[in-house]
Amino acid sequence: MVKIAFNSALAQKALGKEVPAAVKDPELASDSAPTDGFGRLILYLLGISFILTGLIVGGACLYRYFTPKRLYHGAMQFTDVSTGSESQPYYLPRVEEEVEISDSMAVVSVPPPRFRPGDPAYILHDFNRKLTVYLDLTLRTCFVIPLNTSVVLPPQDLIDLFSQLMSDSYRSYLVREDLVVTERIEDVKPLGFYIHRLCDGKETYRMQRRSNLPGGNIQKRSADDCFTIRHFENKFVTETRICKA
Ligand SMILES: *[C@@H]1O[C@H](CO)[C@@H](O)[C@H](O)[C@H]1NC(C)=O
Repeated sequence: MVKIAFNSALAQKALGKEVPAAVKDPELASDSAPTDGFGRLILYLLGISFILTGLIVGGACLYRYFTPKRLYHGAMQFTDVSTGSESQPYYLPRVEEEVEISDSMAVVSVPPPRFRPGDPAYILHDFNRKLTVYLDLTLRTCFVIPLNTSVVLPPQDLIDLFSQLMSDSYRSYLVREDLVVTERIEDVKPLGFYIHRLCDGKETYRMQRRSNLPGGNIQKRSADDCFTIRHFENKFVTETRICKA
């Protein structure tokens, strides 16, 4: 359509130029046919630029949420220095995980551990919102805490780490963190698109590091309402213990 309109407009214009005014076809010279063609052309172009603008803006919005994601798989063996045993055990514990990394977030998928109790989980790090959420897949409950940038590597460094893990087995060490539930979050919408998508319709709680709570360094003996997730987003393995009290 556009091509035809464009061509005919051009042709008529060229024709009008070549033919001397005196011998001009009266129809061509006097009427508004070329102007109509040209007007239509402009309308077409305007329409197309509107559509293109729509596509570009829409595409940019989609891109923001669906940036190219890549899936990585990695495993780490680790020694637990806190157990104090000098001799290396014959079999080193191992953590395996899959992680999806994009510019703005990383989702770690932790499978159920094979030789000890523990829950499978998703851990989502939102680098724009600076939030981390643990979704315990057994409890179907979300736990939110500010992103700790000294533990979680930024996306590009994470990609580098997992590329390295693919080529060789990695020996590491264990770091423990102790998190405590502080309050329930009724509405997850303000926590951003990703967390909303992950935690909508599930119980969601805010957490703090136990050491940040007043008197938090006093360890409670009972571990009734606690569970642990072992994972890594850096060159060491983190054992996150989440307690409801
Ligand atoms: C981040 O994690 C490290 C290691 O677990 C800890 O020492 C530090 O206090 C944490 N930072 C914040 C802001 O929670």
